[in-house]
Amino acid sequence: MDLYEYQAKELFARHGVPVPRGRVASTPEEARSIAEELRAPVVVKAQVKTGGRGKAGGIRPAPGPSSTEAEARHVIGMDIKRHIARTVLVEQATVPFEEYYAAYLVDRADRTFLAMVSARGGMDIEEVAATDPGALVRMPIDPVRGVDREIALELAARAALPEDVREAVAGVLVRLWQVMVEEDALLVEVNPLACTADGRVLALDGKVTLDAGAGFRHDHEALADPAEGEGLEAVARARKLNYVKLDGEVGVIGNGAGLVMSTLDVVAYAGRGFGGVRPANFLDIGGGASAQVMADALDTVLADPGVRSVLVNVFGGITACDAVADGVVAALRMLGERGLSRPVVVRLDGNNAEAGRAILAAARHPRVRVVTTMDDAAELAARLAAA
Ligand SMILES: Nc1ncnc2c1ncn2[C@@H]1O[C@H](COP(=O)(O)OP(=O)(O)OP(=O)(O)O)[C@@H](O)[C@H]1O
Ligand SMILES: [Mg+2]
Repeated sequence: MDLYEYQAKELFARHGVPVPRGRVASTPEEARSIAEELRAPVVVKAQVKTGGRGKAGGIRPAPGPSSTEAEARHVIGMDIKRHIARTVLVEQATVPFEEYYAAYLVDRADRTFLAMVSARGGMDIEEVAATDPGALVRMPIDPVRGVDREIALELAARAALPEDVREAVAGVLVRLWQVMVEEDALLVEVNPLACTADGRVLALDGKVTLDAGAGFRHDHEALADPAEGEGLEAVARARKLNYVKLDGEVGVIGNGAGLVMSTLDVVAYAGRGFGGVRPANFLDIGGGASAQVMADALDTVLADPGVRSVLVNVFGGITACDAVADGVVAALRMLGERGLSRPVVVRLDGNNAEAGRAILAAARHPRVRVVTTMDDAAELAARLAAA
């Protein structure tokens, strides 16, 4: 789960990482009153989960309350790389003397944690990494030892930060590591990590990705964003469904993680023939596909407004296909209107597949189409989604 900058900064503050004073606003008037409270020049920052906001004009300085209101009016509703800014962070303007870069991430290729630090932070870090890779220090972090003061100082030295700020930066690096570990994050990135003329070090930006798989250890639910389908994931979790929201149009329901993963691939592949239709989600209903589980699954998938067709792909094993078919029929009845809203393609194979198909055929549901092979089912689901 990706966090907004303001949420990342709230986590930072909880772990003692210095951040500018500020708050999030969803209206220009609210932005104004935050600026009044702060009694200082502020920066109005578009809250979108994508980078390059500065370059897109989503980061705007404002000397006082009325300009803050005007800038917020300009930024709220702004489209930045297809992300609409619904809120702005209004925070105290800090004049950065220097801008550094610091990040921790899970490096899956190297199967380790990785720290990245650079003396050349700011808005062009991607370019620095591409044109002068030596300026971006990369160091694997031992997960048991983590980042202590000594390691943090080594990072600061290797990145050739000015000697007089290394101690302060190291202190922040240690705390950012605490954010990484204690919040179960997959990514903690600060760009810029600003150093002020009087030697203070603070996070002017923050990007955090939390590991949703570790969500049960935290109270991170409040950080979920309904506008991004994260609300759907929370609802699915409460129903004990393994559901992951994706960005496409074909809802996918299957039994067994492996089967669902390959269904996603097959749908994406078939979708290329229909203007790039893609899977809308991952949903594994596991072994016991009772009518209730199937109803919950269909209801969850259909609650996603982006879904235009649904593919139910089940390989009958211990739970036989006739039981699954009964579940689908009962589920659609339970869902009423919502069950009728979009086409559902069902592919059943394995144990009692014939009987399952017969049950679906007999039910004559107007929206259900039964297809025998996985490829054909994916193709039909993609075609219906594109229609
Ligand atoms: N509170 C602040 N006070 C003064 N300047 C700021 C403040 N916040 C941000 N800036 C300036 O605006 C620039 C861009 O801000 P920020 O890094 O938050 O957004 P961004 O462009 O989206 O970054 P990225 O591309 O890394 O996601 C910073 O490099 C910094 O120079
Ligand atoms: Mg930034």
